[in-house]
Amino acid sequence: MKVAVIGTGYVGLTTAVSLAMNGHQVTGIDLVASKVEKLRQGISPIYEPGLDEALKKVLDDGALTFYTDLTEAKDAEIFFICVGTPEAADGTADLTYLLGAVSDIEKVHSLAPQERIVVIKSTVPVGTGEKVAGMLAGCQGVSVASNPEFLREGSALLDALEPSRIVIGVDNPQAAAGMEELYNGVKAPRVITTRANAELIKYASNAFLATRISFMNELARLSTALGTDIVTISRGMGLDSRIGPQFLRAGVGYGGSCFPKDTIALLRLAAEHNIHLSILDKVREVNNTQPVWFLEQLCLQLPDLKGKQIAVLGLTFKPDTDDIREAPSLKLIEALLQKGASVKAYDPIGASDVSKQFPQITYTQSAEEACEGAQAALLVTEWEQCVQLDWKRVHQSMAQPLLVDGRNAWPNQEVKEAGFHYIGVGRS
Ligand code: UGA
Repeated sequence: MKVAVIGTGYVGLTTAVSLAMNGHQVTGIDLVASKVEKLRQGISPIYEPGLDEALKKVLDDGALTFYTDLTEAKDAEIFFICVGTPEAADGTADLTYLLGAVSDIEKVHSLAPQERIVVIKSTVPVGTGEKVAGMLAGCQGVSVASNPEFLREGSALLDALEPSRIVIGVDNPQAAAGMEELYNGVKAPRVITTRANAELIKYASNAFLATRISFMNELARLSTALGTDIVTISRGMGLDSRIGPQFLRAGVGYGGSCFPKDTIALLRLAAEHNIHLSILDKVREVNNTQPVWFLEQLCLQLPDLKGKQIAVLGLTFKPDTDDIREAPSLKLIEALLQKGASVKAYDPIGASDVSKQFPQITYTQSAEEACEGAQAALLVTEWEQCVQLDWKRVHQSMAQPLLVDGRNAWPNQEVKEAGFHYIGVGRS
């Protein structure tokens, strides 16, 4: 099918590449000319494993092209809207870019009217699909579908090619059939439903995953007090098929562009309908206080951080991404500096972005180098380069052998045997 994808961020670019790989003729649209220029050369603006190679392949095959102007895609049967919906000052989702894309589609449709589907993939509040349908009501032959995205940064391409489920919200059978044709051949269970249901499935999924994490993080605090081991507890819980093992890892809290933004947007949406989602409120509260609790664990060992050198290992919000949005590392660095510590940080990819916010700290070329002379090393993001260390060398080079593991990812027995004092999150 002929497909246009508006917006070439994480979701848009991955969607465009995966649809092109699945045999569709795809046009990617982005307002930023320099970005389009790079994309045409096969240079992805984001770091995502496997994406560069896949992008080059579909460009070479002629299955994907990029433009700044949507009129270049005026004969598309499907228009995907994949623009950002950032958090507005009041916590609601800012729909400015989305509404801009809708009015561009309206203009292009008037140039070349035909049967087509406008698909909203951006994460949007319940009711947005109806609103967009209302805006496009004068465009004959146009249907509006909601098709939320469930990809994870770091495995985005795989998630797009092999999704856990395909959720499609439509209000007529022709649009449902068009979407089925688009995803023909993609093996995944379908949920064909209303637009509002599809929109809420997206928010509810992210909110529920965030809830699992905050539940485990709060339980980890109790586990520390009891001297029990949260890793074993989480394993024991996850073996129950009604619970499952995913998203039960305690740590320094969740970050990224989705959970923090989507949980607040869902709370605001509910408040507009006079509903207080009290559990979700607490989920956010636990997440906001988790880095504070984590630093308290460090301070139990090093009560006065003034003048102490602390290694911070891993800066992005999770491994295998260059994204530092809402990364717990930022809160931790800020708090460490406030307490008078000097920070040496390492990340395989995220250091240059973090250095714009924190130019006063030192950035090293390796995790081992960050640990040299340090009174404590903190693991904040479990990049392989921060987890697999030469412990003997690290032990010799640190001023004090104190490891505080914010992801429970270091081999705790091995490091204890190597002579370190080890503290995890909720570990005895
Ligand atoms: C999340 C969802 O997992 C995707 O399904 C969704 O499509 C995406 O948001 C989105 O709305 O676009 P993502 O933000 O890329 O994906 O990252 P996750 O893998 O979900 O991790 C989020 C945060 O939770 C990270 O900071 C991670 O370290 C943390 N986390 C995850 C934990 O602390 N514990 C866990 O057990 C799992």
